[in-house]
Amino acid sequence: MQLSTKHLLGIKDISPADISLILSTAAQFKEVLQRPIKKVPSLRDVTIVNLFYENSTRTRMSFELAEKRLSADTINFAISSSSASKGETLLDTVNNILSMKVDMVVMRHYASGAPHFLSRHIPAAIINAGDGINEHPTQALLDAFSIQEKLGSLPGKKVVLIGDIMHSRVALSNIHLLKKMGAEVMVAGPPTLIPKYIGEAFQVKVEYDLKKALAWCDVANVLRIQLERQNQVLFSSLREYNLAYGVSKKLLDSLGKDIVIMHPGPINRGVEIDSDVADGSQSIILHQVENGVAVRMAVLYLLAGHALD
Ligand code: CP
Repeated sequence: MQLSTKHLLGIKDISPADISLILSTAAQFKEVLQRPIKKVPSLRDVTIVNLFYENSTRTRMSFELAEKRLSADTINFAISSSSASKGETLLDTVNNILSMKVDMVVMRHYASGAPHFLSRHIPAAIINAGDGINEHPTQALLDAFSIQEKLGSLPGKKVVLIGDIMHSRVALSNIHLLKKMGAEVMVAGPPTLIPKYIGEAFQVKVEYDLKKALAWCDVANVLRIQLERQNQVLFSSLREYNLAYGVSKKLLDSLGKDIVIMHPGPINRGVEIDSDVADGSQSIILHQVENGVAVRMAVLYLLAGHALD
């Protein structure tokens, strides 16, 4: 089976059938990753460039590992060590790389829409590994895979995204995906970090009281405060943010029920989440990272079918 799309630019643009196909293919690759020999020859003649214009730990390593597990040939580009710092345009950089016969491009960029721009100008398959404050589709896919693995399914599950919704591409991709797959979605946090239009535009619940949000949900996906994307003061201090919106063990214990705790990383310990919650028994944060490899293998494998057509 193939995806109905040539690129993975965002969850907004793909169908529930495509999402289901990626998640079921990821389950097969997760099984491969449990074997003593974790490598399969599926992408043996495929060349992939990892084009990172913004820092990354999890996404970049996860894509690199997924590509190696699929036996693809890979090249890595980081802006800090490239000629982009000498003024070369994105399109020139990519066209130079493509002249070396590259089939697929995995791209993270600080500008929203950069992978969409690229997809209109080059023939290679593009996978968005996070663009500005727009989308982070493979993060949403691995989050969904992890929820499904923990709770059995997505339809009807109550998921709250907590914190800096305004600047979070993870939030937007999660909202699109969870709504398409029949989950109930809430966003929670301070009013200054939640866009006013979001409830009506995306048909999600909005809650400014953290305890009420946690009491409602099955799953809490706690988001990082993105100080690097904020150009104005949106809350008084990190200490006060932690007091009002930090997820603490005391708060979880007061709920009288177990909820699944997630975080896309990197974590600001002691700000949006306390260490004893991030490392506690309800947390599946490291399972999310583990599942990222299988999910990215699935995306690469399914899109390679189109890239080689
Ligand atoms: N979750 C995530 O995108 O982490 P990185 O920025 O480390 O890739």
